[in-house]
Amino acid sequence: MSKVLSAVAWPYANGPRHLGHVAGFAVPSDVFSRYMRMAGHDVLMVSGSDEHGTPILVLADKEGVTPRELVDKNHAIIAAELADLGCSYDLYTRTTTDNHYAVAQELFRRCWENGYMVERTQRGAISPSTGRTLPDRYIEGTCPICGYGEARGDQCDNCGNQLEPEELINPRSKVNGETPVFVETQHFFLDLPALADSLRTWLEGREASGTWRPNVIKFSLNILDDIKPRAMTRDIDWGIPVPLDGWRDQPTKRLYVWFDAVVGYLSASIEWARRLPEVDGQSQADRWREWWNDPEALSYYFMGKDNITFHSQIWP
Ligand code: MF3
Ligand code: ZN
Repeated sequence: MSKVLSAVAWPYANGPRHLGHVAGFAVPSDVFSRYMRMAGHDVLMVSGSDEHGTPILVLADKEGVTPRELVDKNHAIIAAELADLGCSYDLYTRTTTDNHYAVAQELFRRCWENGYMVERTQRGAISPSTGRTLPDRYIEGTCPICGYGEARGDQCDNCGNQLEPEELINPRSKVNGETPVFVETQHFFLDLPALADSLRTWLEGREASGTWRPNVIKFSLNILDDIKPRAMTRDIDWGIPVPLDGWRDQPTKRLYVWFDAVVGYLSASIEWARRLPEVDGQSQADRWREWWNDPEALSYYFMGKDNITFHSQIWP
């Protein structure tokens, strides 16, 4: 019998959006978890709603509600649908719990203490009317390479080239049409180049185990050849505060939604253990460690293919 962590991707709470999620990972992970339980393994199956990030903010503005109201509504819908389907999660939670905030902040702070979060200044686009960051994909303009009129700030879908938003000709905000302003802004970057060697060793171990799909291994190893530090904070007022002095109280600096989302697998496991009733007067709150600290425990992740980078680079 093994400890088996069944880690299911967290649906983004910007709408019910359930069909792709159900077909893509809710049903496969449920079939897997039920099978493993029947085979006698000790399965911990966790997930929840992914509730931070710019798309939620943009949608809340559009609907004239607060981001909190929007995610409360969508989380309730998503959770009820998954329950109605009979999905057998041990815990389906959300990223706006106090527990999740504390765990995500602790992981961020530990990375920083260990020297893997480096502070850097970069140029970023903001909306002049709201002062909020405009992520690259919310900026549209003419491609400087092929002249396509609707290129995005991160890439041109016509010629396939990666772009910097400042390279676009006549840039405009997809949110409200205004012309973005580019300013200097400070952020924390996860020092992925410093971690690349150990990541490579780990990925090669995954390859040798034969448990990952070959294309996923290949894709993940390829990224390592040209890996760059990646910003783990954002100029946004919806999300988890940056847990460092001088940053904590800045209302418009938050952790990057993808940093906090992947931490959800761990924070949900911790929340699950905290909710267990005492046994013979003994707290069970540390039981999550059976799935996370035991080298014999097995972890299985269920996700869409556009989530690979976050699960094979950022999270490990
Ligand atoms: N919310 C993301 C999506 O819908 C998936 C996040 S998986 C997580 O694509 F584990 F990172 F939360
Ligand atoms: Zn182009």
